[in-house]
Order: sequence, then C-alpha cells, then structure tokens
Amino acid sequence: MNPNQISIERYRDKAAGYDASAEFTMPLRRRTIALLHLRAGETVIDVGAGTGLSYALLRDGVGDTGQVWGFEQSPEMFAVGEQRVQREHWPNVLHLQAPAETVNLPGMADAVLFNYTHDICRTPAAVANILRQVKPGARVAMAGIKFFPWWTGPLNILAWLKNRPYNAKAADLWEPWSHVAAACSDFQWHSTQWGMGYVASGIKRGDPP
Ligand SMILES: C[S@@+](CC[C@H](N)C(=O)[O-])C[C@H]1O[C@@H](n2cnc3c(N)ncnc32)[C@H](O)[C@@H]1O
Repeated sequence: MNPNQISIERYRDKAAGYDASAEFTMPLRRRTIALLHLRAGETVIDVGAGTGLSYALLRDGVGDTGQVWGFEQSPEMFAVGEQRVQREHWPNVLHLQAPAETVNLPGMADAVLFNYTHDICRTPAAVANILRQVKPGARVAMAGIKFFPWWTGPLNILAWLKNRPYNAKAADLWEPWSHVAAACSDFQWHSTQWGMGYVASGIKRGDPP
C-alpha cells in the first residue's frame, strides 16, 4: 500500500468519533488559526480538512464575502465534513474529496492552514501542489506532533506511538514543518504539549501580487 492508501485505511474507523476526540485540541486549533490573521473577503485553504472542524472558525475570519476551500482524501472523514457543510448551509465553503498531491482549487488563496496534517506535510509533492495555489505573500499556519528534543531519548517512543495510529509517515517527526518552511520567509515555530507538539507560521515566499 502507498502512504495515501495507508492513511485512508487508518481514518476509515476514526471518522465517526473524530470530532469528539478532537474536542480538547480546540484551543490549539484556535491559536493556530489566529496566526493566519484572516480578513473579511479573503480566501483560505484548509489542507486535509478532515471533518471540517476548522470551517466555522475560518469562516469567522473571512466573513460572508470570503471563501474557505477545504479538501480531504478519506471518504469517511470527507462524508462527516459534507454533512456539516450541508447542515450549516455555508455557501462559501468548498469541501472537496481529493488528495493533496493532485487537488485543484479554483484559484489562488490568501492564507493556508495545515492543522495536524503530518503525512501531507512530509510529502514534498503534496506540499508543492498546495503551495502553487497560494499567493506569494500569503500567510501560512501549521500545528502538529513532533518529537521531543533529542536529549529526552526514550520519551520519543511516546510521540511515535501517538502519531502511528493516524499517520503513514509516523517516524518522521524531527522537523515536520521543514518542507513548508522551505517555501516561506519569517518562518517561526514554537513547542506545544510539553514538547510533543508544535505550532508554526510563515509567509509564502515571493512578491505579493
Ligand atoms: C489528524 S487529521 C486532521 C484533520 C483536520 N485538519 C483537523 O484539523 O481536524 C489528518 C487528515 O489528513 C487527511 N490526509 C492525510 N493524507 C492526505 C492526503 N495526501 N491528501 C488529503 N488528505 C490527507 C486524513 O485523511 C485526515 O483526515
């Protein structure tokens, strides 16, 4: 199985309980989205949007005149997100079922969110395909799991064990942001969750249009 198929299998039985399990991470989600400094009328991409748990917060940022473009490859996660979008009657949320490596969005975005999208962040082709659809000068925000500092040694088994049920590239946790960071200026990251998590932000390189 390739990493996409592994990921799809891992999320098959997680979709139904995902929202409840993610409840305690809402403060971190809000903190990460705040780093996007969204403004009314802007367009934001929600990478690997899962069940669409960030959509309401992103909509709050871009307002009725802005756009939220989310995509998700797992059929089960996508279906829960689709129910949410239909239930809430959000006319400005585009919710697509597609892999990050090939997704085609309708234009260029002002901001992009990578919230706990480890496998995508560790796949250069996926990162490149997303960032080609983001304007130069756009704001980028990320959050996810990382290894503890190297000197904590065996503690990193914990990080790996926590990551493994969700991600195909579970051991690649030293600098999970590195491919995205390489395309950004002013990139900064900070530890969260006692060192086992990170939150990061940057500006997509290039001159703004
Ligand atoms: C931990 S969940 C996070 C979901 C969402 N970003 C959130 O904040 O709740 C990771 C999501 O990435 C999706 N994913 C993994 N690899 C992907 C890929 N190559 N293309 C699109 N989605 C992918 C998974 O199916 C899963 O829904």
